[in-house]
Amino acid sequence: MTEKEIILSPSILAGDHANLENSVRIITETGLRWVHIDIMDGNFVPNLTFGPQTIIDLRKNSQLFFDTHLMLSQPQNHVEAFAKAGSDLISIHIEPEYPVRKTLKHIRDLGCKNGIVINPDTSVDSLTPYIEDVDLILVMTVQPGFGGQVFREDMLHKIEILNSLRKKNHLKFRLEVDGGINLDTGLKCRQKGCDTLVAGSAFFNANNKKSFAKNLIL
Ligand code: DX5
Ligand code: ZN
Repeated sequence: MTEKEIILSPSILAGDHANLENSVRIITETGLRWVHIDIMDGNFVPNLTFGPQTIIDLRKNSQLFFDTHLMLSQPQNHVEAFAKAGSDLISIHIEPEYPVRKTLKHIRDLGCKNGIVINPDTSVDSLTPYIEDVDLILVMTVQPGFGGQVFREDMLHKIEILNSLRKKNHLKFRLEVDGGINLDTGLKCRQKGCDTLVAGSAFFNANNKKSFAKNLIL
């Protein structure tokens, strides 16, 4: 387990897309502080979701911490728009060809926290050049693109490795997981040192969201 405060970041991908404001309100009323916003370009991933205007409009009525997960082939062209729209944290994938280091710095220069994301098929070693320069590392526990997929147990070792690396190097990045997180898989991730849990379907399908949240992050 980790000493960091455990955060649950519900993904509004699993909410009502005709009423995202309500999805955000549900998160606030549950007493949570973060919302996970999935941005997909139909290219890096085979699905499409929201753009910066969605974030601008959600920001008007929400003080939540906007955890923006960019699933884009060319994120460097969009970080400024997502920062200005009101994101608090912007995470970018390591897999596409673009200036990763420069984009991570750009996100911080824009006043946001930065995060780096790895897909299930990407090794933890590929993160080594960046671990000292990120506020968050996101380990995908499903192939990104869609909610409601099954958690990949074989990703647990990545969390363990990254947690050890964090301890060994006295680093402070948050360790987040995304995909197939429910009470069972969330606990397994926490046991390996994860401190930030994204949950889409499991959160929005829970009849009692307060008890779901309490059981997951207690
Ligand atoms: C998947 C997204 C996730 C998604 C998780 O590409 O990055 O954030 O919303 O959904 P669940 O929790 O349903 O797997
Ligand atoms: Zn996500």
